Amino acid sequence: MIRIAAVGDVHVGTDGPPEGLRAKLAQVNDDADVLLVAGDLTKCGTPEEAGRFLDEFTEVAVPIVAVLGNHDHHAGRPDDVARRLADHGIIVLDGDEVVLTVGGYRLGIAGIKGFGGGFAGASATAFGEAEIKAFVHHSEHVARRLSDALARLAEAGCDRRVALTHYSPSPDTLAGERLELFPFLGSQHLAEAVDVGGADLAIHGHAHMGTERGRTPGGVPVRNVAMPVIRAAYRVYELAVPMPVAPADEHDASAVRHVG
Ligand SMILES: [Fe+2]
Ligand SMILES: [Fe+2]
Repeated sequence: MIRIAAVGDVHVGTDGPPEGLRAKLAQVNDDADVLLVAGDLTKCGTPEEAGRFLDEFTEVAVPIVAVLGNHDHHAGRPDDVARRLADHGIIVLDGDEVVLTVGGYRLGIAGIKGFGGGFAGASATAFGEAEIKAFVHHSEHVARRLSDALARLAEAGCDRRVALTHYSPSPDTLAGERLELFPFLGSQHLAEAVDVGGADLAIHGHAHMGTERGRTPGGVPVRNVAMPVIRAAYRVYELAVPMPVAPADEHDASAVRHVG
């Protein structure tokens, strides 16, 4: 069993973090093998805010893997934010992947911020003005990078693969948000990237008013871990791993169990 803790949208500003966050986060060392952070670490994306974020995570001893969110881009310094996080040992993914060894198993994580565009039947198309084409092309581009990263993890022979994004790869986990906002909260391109690239679990944030659980159209479990949704410092999900000596049909390879 691989235990994956995840949280998004912590939104640490210079006015400080959510009360008691540091102590709650320290518990993750007992609860999980890795902590995923699904973007919007900061309020406005300044390196100073990134420093305040790091202050809260100093007692986390398990590997931390993060993607940035739209708020982390607001100040126009996402590279500075990412560098500051990386300097303190956080693995920041942006269209790339990492393989962690957990209990003898290989856990692959592919991450990217993602982008909007809407979902099947209500999605933007690259037609007309240059501005809408640029919007859609960017959405397609980041999704392709996620799909490629997931495919590389498959080639690397990972036992389990996780897609980590800020924007959502499923409309399911947007339930609770206004329908008008869906095109700004996720995209069908991300959904297809997860399904084509292949993953056992997809983690995202961004939809503060959304729902925790959903699936991609292809059936991959999706979890919205935005802090206002999970109302906790993190949520832990357990991924079943193959039993080396058991027949292939004696376990559900895609099983994902929610803990806590
Ligand atoms: Fe957010
Ligand atoms: Fe966001």
